Amino acid sequence: MKLTLNNKTPHAVESACIVVGVFEDEPLGGAAADLDEASSGAISAMIESGDIDAFRGRTTLLHGLPGVKADRILVTGLGEPDRFDRVRFDMACMSAGVFLREHSVTEAHICLHESECEDLDLAWRLRHAGIAFDRANYVYTTTKPRKDDSPHPLKSVSFQGDADMEDAIRQAESIAAGYRRARELGNLPPNICNPAYLAQQAKSIAEAHERVDVEILKKKDMAALGMDALLAVGQGSGNGPRLIVLKYNGAGDEEQPVALVGKGITFDSGGISLKPGANMDQMKFDMCGAATVLGAFEACVLLNLPINLVTIVAAAENMPDGRAYRPGDVLTSMSGKTIEILNTDAEGRLVLCDALTYCERFNPRATIDVATLTGACVVALGHHASGLMSPHDDLAEELICAGRVSVDRAWRLPVWEDYQQQLKTPFADMKNVGGMPAGAITAGCFLSRFAKKQRWAHIDIAGSAWKWGEAEGATGRPVGLLTQYLINQS
Ligand code: BES
Ligand code: MN
Ligand code: ZN
Repeated sequence: MKLTLNNKTPHAVESACIVVGVFEDEPLGGAAADLDEASSGAISAMIESGDIDAFRGRTTLLHGLPGVKADRILVTGLGEPDRFDRVRFDMACMSAGVFLREHSVTEAHICLHESECEDLDLAWRLRHAGIAFDRANYVYTTTKPRKDDSPHPLKSVSFQGDADMEDAIRQAESIAAGYRRARELGNLPPNICNPAYLAQQAKSIAEAHERVDVEILKKKDMAALGMDALLAVGQGSGNGPRLIVLKYNGAGDEEQPVALVGKGITFDSGGISLKPGANMDQMKFDMCGAATVLGAFEACVLLNLPINLVTIVAAAENMPDGRAYRPGDVLTSMSGKTIEILNTDAEGRLVLCDALTYCERFNPRATIDVATLTGACVVALGHHASGLMSPHDDLAEELICAGRVSVDRAWRLPVWEDYQQQLKTPFADMKNVGGMPAGAITAGCFLSRFAKKQRWAHIDIAGSAWKWGEAEGATGRPVGLLTQYLINQS
């Protein structure tokens, strides 16, 4: 989607649709007031008569108002003025964006960011609106091309504002591109998006940008490094595993990088501990951690951030087979620690533990892994918050704050030592499952054992990475949180 600025008076803007916000029980302001005046009170009359509802997220389409150049006006409810915060701002942009995605117009002029909101400056509001309209207008078409009755997503939007807001617009485009990359990879079917495909995507990102290098490790390379945990997960599949490393040099060779590590299980059947058939198709989304660290990487590169960034993807397919790993197996991870497998469906932590050990060689100043790791996280936090775990209070706070700012929120769960005993077994240094209590936390505790030498945090996105059962599919979260964190680091 193309984003531009236009600072004409709203009633003089030539557009298929102009998008304005209205608060409940408050006089019209800004663009809505301008259009109302130009149309001799048409909007206020409709609010008076109850034809326009200012309830948050509600949209009303008006057509052909006299005195207004634009063909249509989309009036978007902002709710109560004193409760207008960034979450409601995001929601207003998303609902107007979704309305226009379904409508035949492909171009619009947006004024929603004019409303003041908490202490957020105009640049934030503009950037956030740009990202939200782009996200709302994403439609997956790769394996289902557009038909006549499909939505008509917006192709371009202009925002009310003058040239000094150009930076905010360009930032929005970069972050939106990261979201798109992540959603597209997430939505692709597992017969297309396998470990080799993810590696290919990383290569194409590297080819498109100067300061980016890529390295792909295959089976032999991993065997030489002793990555038997990652290899075990992949060994039941004909689609061999890959360890993908992307490096962005934006701050010179001396600076320590930030490291992002993504779980890239391109399909999680559960392996020998086979999952039930119902909804198993959703396990194509089990590479969303990988997709989002790739998306955040791309956004960081497009933003030209003056930082160094390493992104590592542990890609494998978890399948049952005559060669598959099995419950009872004891694996030796790259770190030398041994792991008894009690359930082959707890595979994410196995691919991540070797990726985390590999990550040590980059001497990162912070390492953040992102994974659709546990169903238990969905039970704990539902679909609205990602689960954040870290023994480092400052890092946890930085990430939570980045999530709050980007309206891509995370909530912290403890990874106290007390939980570690659930991973005890007589047969190895640890087992790969911690039983029913606190399943998201014991998974985090498992990972923490491989991140002791790093300043590390883990984000469980099992609930936030995709919309269950809805057409929308992959959300691209937490690309917003991660890019905000990287911006704050630069
Ligand atoms: N990829 C799943 C986690 C998952 C499940 C994400 C449902 C989103 C929705 C992960 O590999 C898994 O299967 N975890 C098991 C762990 C258990 C065996 C300890 C789970 O959550 O049931
Ligand atoms: Mn699993
Ligand atoms: Zn999984």
